Amino acid sequence: MEFVTYETEGAVGIITINRPKALNALNSQVLDDLNEAFDSVDLGEIRALILTGAGEKSFVAGADIGEMSSLTKAEGEAFGKKGNDIFRKIETFPIPVIAAINGFALGGGCEIAMSCDIRLCSENAVFGQPEVGLGITPGFGGTQRLARIVGVGRAKEMIYGARNIKADDAYRIGLVNHVYPLEELIPAAKKMAAGIAKNAPIAVRNCKKAINEGLQVDMDQAIVIEEKLFGDCFESYDQKEGMAAFLEKRKVEAFLNK
Ligand code: CAA
Repeated sequence: MEFVTYETEGAVGIITINRPKALNALNSQVLDDLNEAFDSVDLGEIRALILTGAGEKSFVAGADIGEMSSLTKAEGEAFGKKGNDIFRKIETFPIPVIAAINGFALGGGCEIAMSCDIRLCSENAVFGQPEVGLGITPGFGGTQRLARIVGVGRAKEMIYGARNIKADDAYRIGLVNHVYPLEELIPAAKKMAAGIAKNAPIAVRNCKKAINEGLQVDMDQAIVIEEKLFGDCFESYDQKEGMAAFLEKRKVEAFLNK
């Protein structure tokens, strides 16, 4: 992979978008590399992922404006689909993905962060959907996910006005869960990922699926989704071990993902 690195620490995987000369802007190659990185995650071993950007200035400064500048309508639509396909893969990835946002998260950068389960950012982070200032709409899910995360009014204000916001405002409106000094961001993301990774993997997976899928349907259908995924946990080794440990007043020996 030319622009993405993937490393592991125990049960945590770290995917880093590494194109710092262009502030980690997403061109087609970066999107292909991201796709490959997610495909290469060993779901038998890895229980949580961190997605971040290389350098101290930018998480992702958006889709690549140079590459987009000469696209036809059909090519623009296809480029949107390319980004959407990989972002949807991240959103529905079986294990939790934590975005560690280390600077600019503009356009496609804000959008990829929103496809992750949880967003943490550094104090120098800047969020925004500047697309209307470039003559386009947000194209990698921004018109859909921002309103779902921060509410319709705030999303419209940011998108129509191409208005960037800083980390403290992103925290205030619920776009990020926590803000850290830059040097504490990755350690905090690793700590959170490790905390998730120590829990029963099938249960964590089923929680992600239940929350994501339940939000797309009405409550009557949503609770049925929950019931099925709740039921699915039973008879697993991890359910038996987790409950036995409680009843026997001891610590869980290990969750084995089975
Ligand atoms: N695409 C391509 N190249 C980009 C880029 C992008 N989105 N963002 C930054 N770069 C490049 C710059 O062209 C520059 O390259 P050169 O050194 O070769 O000139 C390099 O990264 C450094 O950028 P700047 O010199 O501009 O750095 P700065 O500190 O002065 O400004 C910035 C930083 C405010 C983030 C500014 O780079 C900027 O505004 N970038 C564009 C942000 C943007 O509009 N993003 C949305 C893109 S559209 C989109 O994402 C559509 C979608 O939804 C799919």
